[in-house]
Amino acid sequence: MNLKGLILSGGTGSRLRPITHTSAKQLVPVANKPVLFYGIESLRDAGITEIGIVVGDTAAEIEEAAGDGSRWGVNITYIPQEAPLGLAHAVLTAEPFLGDSSFVMYLGDNLLRDGISDLVEKFVTNGPDALILLQEVPNPEAYGVAECKDGAVVQLVEKPKEPRSNLALVGIYMFTPAIHECTRKIKPSPRGELEITDAIQCLIDEGKRVEPHVVSGWWKDTGKLDDMLEANRLILDAVEGDIRGTVEDSEIHGRVVVEKGAVITGCTIRGPVIIGERTVVRDSYIGPYTSISNDAEVGNSEIEHSIILEQSKVLDLHGRMEGSLIGKNVQIIRLDQKPRAYRFMVGDNSWIGII
Ligand code: DAU
Repeated sequence: MNLKGLILSGGTGSRLRPITHTSAKQLVPVANKPVLFYGIESLRDAGITEIGIVVGDTAAEIEEAAGDGSRWGVNITYIPQEAPLGLAHAVLTAEPFLGDSSFVMYLGDNLLRDGISDLVEKFVTNGPDALILLQEVPNPEAYGVAECKDGAVVQLVEKPKEPRSNLALVGIYMFTPAIHECTRKIKPSPRGELEITDAIQCLIDEGKRVEPHVVSGWWKDTGKLDDMLEANRLILDAVEGDIRGTVEDSEIHGRVVVEKGAVITGCTIRGPVIIGERTVVRDSYIGPYTSISNDAEVGNSEIEHSIILEQSKVLDLHGRMEGSLIGKNVQIIRLDQKPRAYRFMVGDNSWIGII
């Protein structure tokens, strides 16, 4: 069967503001690679080469990052969605691209450790009308929630106030073209979106076969700060050390990636850590689960369990920075001016914790 891939990269990213005021949430890097690229690679590894990416306001940025897909040996078609009117609306919008193909729908901010190759095989072999992935979570009310009985899905509800199970819908779905009739039939939810959860419920109500698969490896929806940091931790946990840049007068412990052109001097670096191209780190401690992107600068500071995006500077911090996500081109610096005072120029919805 020739499956297509559909990655959803529209939406607003409201839970990752202010980072997403200026960038698409699907492009925030995890271990220095945009989240979206992990999805493209998962589809490619499952043998899917025709991939549509649904895009919204951040279309230009996403197109610039992923291009025509040739870098991965896939063919990417961009599908503009007029507004983020819901995941099922995105499928409706993509219908001309999908035609009568079965397809894997992949939410562009989701990460799944074990990829989808085995699941695609299961979908093709078992031939259900849809295959959904589920995982037990401590906070099901933040997700679509499935209720199963005797191995079959009986009910799906989007972000229920009183969840009837702790099985969340993972943002990766496999559909036959039967889904299109349902995306056309459903009505907007209380939050005003056409929910894919309701479209799948419609398949169930019409007696179609919706097969559940409970995912055992880790899964992360990177839409919020803590989840993003956790995804970064999980990906870095599997990274192999590789020193391609310059390391002088420094102690490197554990798995550390120093990309080419990066310069590390007078530091202690305790992996897993990744330091991007041309980034300079001096007289600092960089602790586990930290990703620093390209062209950044860290001096005389201590950083742990954090993500720092490109061209940002962290200089002369007195306390250790932890659990932080620093956007692009941000400067955290020490001032010599008198009188001594904090000075901030901080975007909307930013968050600063001081000690
Ligand atoms: O992550 C799993 C969850 O994803 C599921 O458990 C939920 O059932 C499902 O509705 C979805 O919930 P979210 O509220 O997290 O979806 P979000 O609005 O974050 O959108 C997911 C992705 O789809 C994101 O990359 C943006 C994109 N998107 C979203 C909308 C609403 C679009 O491309 N178009 C849209 O209209």
